[in-house]
Parts: sequence; structure tokens; C-alpha cells
Amino acid sequence: MALIRRSVVDLLTVATCFFLGVSAFNTSCDATFNTGFGLGAITLPPASNIPTADPIGPYGVGVSFETYCFQGRGVTLNYWYPALPAADSSPYVSAGGIVGKAVKDAPVDPSSGPYPLILFSPGLAAVDDAYYFYTQNLASNGYIVVSIQHLDARNANITTKEFALILAAIDAAAGNTIDAVIEEYTDFFRETQYALTYRPQEIEFALNQTIQSTTNNSSPWYGIIDTDNIGMSGHSLGGFYTNIIGGGMPIYCDYLMTPTQLNPNYPVLSDVSPCAFPARQNMTSPFALHDSRIKAIIPLAAPTFLARTQLARSAARITIPMMTITGDNRTAETTAWVQRDVYEGAAGPSYWVQIRNTNHYLVADSYGLNPVLSASASAGDKADFLDKAAVYMTYSAAFFDYYVKGNKTAYATLHTMSSSYVKELGSRND
Ligand SMILES: *[C@@H]1O[C@H](CO)[C@@H](O)[C@H](O)[C@H]1NC(C)=O
Ligand SMILES: *[C@@H]1O[C@H](CO)[C@@H](O)[C@H](O)[C@H]1NC(C)=O
Ligand SMILES: *[C@@H]1O[C@H](CO)[C@@H](O)[C@H](O)[C@H]1NC(C)=O
Ligand SMILES: *[C@@H]1O[C@H](CO)[C@@H](O)[C@H](O)[C@H]1NC(C)=O
Ligand SMILES: *[C@@H]1O[C@H](CO)[C@@H](O)[C@H](O)[C@H]1NC(C)=O
Ligand SMILES: *[C@@H]1O[C@H](CO)[C@@H](O)[C@H](O)[C@H]1NC(C)=O
Ligand SMILES: *[C@@H]1O[C@H](CO)[C@@H](O)[C@H](O)[C@H]1NC(C)=O
Repeated sequence: MALIRRSVVDLLTVATCFFLGVSAFNTSCDATFNTGFGLGAITLPPASNIPTADPIGPYGVGVSFETYCFQGRGVTLNYWYPALPAADSSPYVSAGGIVGKAVKDAPVDPSSGPYPLILFSPGLAAVDDAYYFYTQNLASNGYIVVSIQHLDARNANITTKEFALILAAIDAAAGNTIDAVIEEYTDFFRETQYALTYRPQEIEFALNQTIQSTTNNSSPWYGIIDTDNIGMSGHSLGGFYTNIIGGGMPIYCDYLMTPTQLNPNYPVLSDVSPCAFPARQNMTSPFALHDSRIKAIIPLAAPTFLARTQLARSAARITIPMMTITGDNRTAETTAWVQRDVYEGAAGPSYWVQIRNTNHYLVADSYGLNPVLSASASAGDKADFLDKAAVYMTYSAAFFDYYVKGNKTAYATLHTMSSSYVKELGSRND
């Protein structure tokens, strides 16, 4: 998620006056741990009931939350599903103050179940329900979407090291937004070894827990989820792990590296490889995080921590269908050529959707529509939110319809420019 510019950070720091003093390794299983709205450790005022884009699928939508104890901490899973809400029910308001059409705890619509499962991993420092239009739209198209409240959601903090913040500002201005975020969150990323110490584990736990609940006759998901047809999507850091876990992109450490790349304490973290850290060193193989239960993936604005020289080589091991969806703002969206290398390197069917005048936050409506956070976005990036949201919704639903449900009618949508906001639409091997 977080591609925050320094000025915004300063503004928020001053406005809220403090960081929450929560350690990244809070071991409480208390359901109130890791809750509330904010960007990582920064608490933010939510928007006040700002409407988001309506879903385009035929089903009503429900949303519900379930908190589990995992590795000694509370991990909340957020389910979006086809539902039959009562006519007079009021829509759910997200933690970020966004309102859509989903109704909290509405009864499941059993008419077309079991529904395929889409696992969703939010961006760094983003809360689980911050992607209201995107997740509710997939549910309205007949999927059960499970989004994860990752440890970083309310715990990732921005470094206080001045030189790292200056580097981050220089990198962001030059369009090196991936390095900018790594510098900005230097301490958090170093301590969590590029999130390898918790994100893959939380994602696997979410998938296992959801699959298990379909065979539990006192669970609301009993018999309602088609666990043979599983897709995955994620935004930003969640997009990186979508490529690694769902796509099977290996993290190779067998090539010649410099002492800097292998020094976990080197001050400029963006120069350090994941191979420098024990969490990668003790993996049994470069492919160890791959979960072959996942059949198709949509990384949204995915960055990478792999060396740029290894990207094409690692991407070549993605053999399942994948679709990249990204905005085009050079200084406020994940570096496009990194995403393009993965799209062009993938061995299976691969799609590229780039959206015009769009920044990193649009798909995460709790952040993109938040008045405080969007104050610094350009007028062009703020214009026509609904049209840009429609691009995310149209192609993500058509992609999973075609590759997860096997709905052949969706093929035409995948090859048609649906809007003037589609800047580039590409496909390979399909
Ligand atoms: C940020 O988080 C790291 C890792 O949990 C911690 O060591 C550090 O003290 C935190 N800094 C601030 C300013 O909260
Ligand atoms: C864990 O987090 C909760 C809620 O933020 C807090 O009340 C509690 O003191 C924390 N526990 C530890 C051991 O840090
Ligand atoms: C999840 O399930 C897989 C397959 O059954 C198993 O290998 C793995 O250990 C499980 N992981 C967790 C975190 O429960
Ligand atoms: C089955 O689901 C119920 C209700 O959600 C829950 O209380 C119970 O722990 C679940 N059983 C197992 C084995 O997970
Ligand atoms: C692998 O590394 C992680 C992160 O440092 C650590 O939590 C885990 O215990 C290690 N596992 C083994 C088998 O050494
Ligand atoms: C990209 O985003 C930055 C930061 O929000 C903004 O200043 C800039 O004007 C945007 N670029 C365009 C072309 O809109
Ligand atoms: C198949 O896909 C098309 C186009 O995306 C959609 O209009 C139609 O409703 C889908 N059919 C089913 C059965 O999901």
C-alpha cells in the first residue's frame, strides 16, 4: 500500500501528534489488537460515509469478520460473499468510513454455491476492508473473497532515520517508488525481513482456515465455498506476495551477490536482498512459499524485493494465468517497468491493464477517498473515480470468470478496451 510522500507523512504526524506505541510483535490474541482505522501505526480520521463505486455483478453482497488466534496474536479474516440482504438493511460502513452496498452478516445466497474462493492480501499498512469496491464487486460476481488483516495493518511504522527519509523523498521524485517505500519503512522491513516473518504465514493460515470451515457444519461457510477453484489477488505488498505464493515466483539466492546485498544491517535497505535474511535462508527451496492450490492471480501494483536482474528469471516460473492491474502515476504508483517485466516474463497466460490518471490509492478506496490522504493527489488523479473503479471491476471479474469459473463468454471482455481510462491493455500466451 504505502507510497506516502514525506509531506503527507509530516502532516499526519503533526495532525495526530503520536505514533501508537504498539510493538510489531504484540502477542495478545485479544480481538481488539490491530484494529481501528489508520495507515499502519498512524491513526487517521476515517472519511464520513463517502460512497464508493457500486458493484456490477448480479448477486447481493454480505460482509463479515472472524478473528482467530494465530501464532499468539489475533488475525482477523474479512469475508465478502454473495448474499440475500433484507430489503430494509443499511449498508456496511468500512473502518475508513466508506459506504457501498454490502450488508454486514447478511445471509449467504445459496442459489449458485459453492462459490470459488478469492484470497485477498492488502497493501503494507492497509486495513482488511479498505478495498470496498474491489472486494464487494468480486462477491457480487459470485465469489467468496477473504481479505486478511495483516500484522502490519496497524503496526507498520515509518522510520525516524532522517537519511532514510531523505533517500525516500529522492527515490519517490525519481519514480523509484519501490525503493522509496523500502526506505520509508526501513525499520519495519528490516525487523520483519521484508515481511517474510509473518505475511506468508498469515496468508497460508487464512487459506487453510477458510478451506477447513467449508467442512465444519456449524460454520456459515459450510459447503458454500468451492475449494477446487481458488484465485488470489493482492495490492502492493499483497501483490508481491500474490506473485510469490499464488504465482509461484521463486526467490533465488544462487547468483553472484555483492557483500552489500548480503548484509542485513547495511543502512540503505533497498540495496539489501531478501537473501541476506534468515527467513529466506532457512526456506527449503526458492519455491518454498508457492501454494499450488491457487489457480489464477491478479497482482495490483505489485512491487518486488527481488534483484531486478532476477525478475525475468523468476517470473518465468509463473505458469498459472495472471493479470496485472496498475495506475500510471510515475511518482505515486508502483514502478511500471518492474510490473511490466513480470507480465512479460510470465510463462502462462498473462494480462496487462494500465489505468490512466490513476495513483496507488484509487483501488484502496478507504485511502483514495479519504479527504486527509487525498489532499495531495493531483486533480487528474482525483477526477472520475467511478470510471476508474469500473476498469478495476470489469477486468478483475472477467479474468476470474474466465480462468477460475471457466466462463468462456468473459474472453471478449479481456480483449476489449472498455473505457477511455484504459491506457494500455495487453495479453500474452492466452
Ligand atoms: C517502529 O517499529 C519498530 C519495529 O517494531 C520499533 O523497533 C520502533 O521502535 C518503532 N518506531 C516508532 C517510532 O514507533
Ligand atoms: C497488545 O496490543 C493490545 C491492543 O493494542 C494492548 O492493549 C496490549 O497491551 C499489547 N500487549 C503487548 C504484550 O504488547
Ligand atoms: C496449511 O495446509 C497445508 C496443506 O494441507 C499444510 O501443508 C500446511 O502446513 C498448513 N499450514 C498452516 C499454517 O496451517
Ligand atoms: C466450527 O465452526 C464453529 C462456528 O464458527 C466454531 O465455533 C468451531 O470452533 C469450528 N470448529 C472447528 C473444528 O474449527
Ligand atoms: C526461519 O527464520 C524465521 C525468521 O527468522 C524464524 O522465525 C524461524 O524460526 C526459522 N526457522 C528455522 C527452522 O530455523
Ligand atoms: C502524481 O501524483 C503526485 C502525488 O500525488 C502528484 O503531485 C502528481 O501531480 C501526479 N501526477 C500526475 C501526472 O497527475
Ligand atoms: C460469464 O461472463 C459474462 C461476461 O463476463 C457475464 O456477463 C456472465 O454473467 C457470466 N456468466 C456466468 C454464468 O457467470
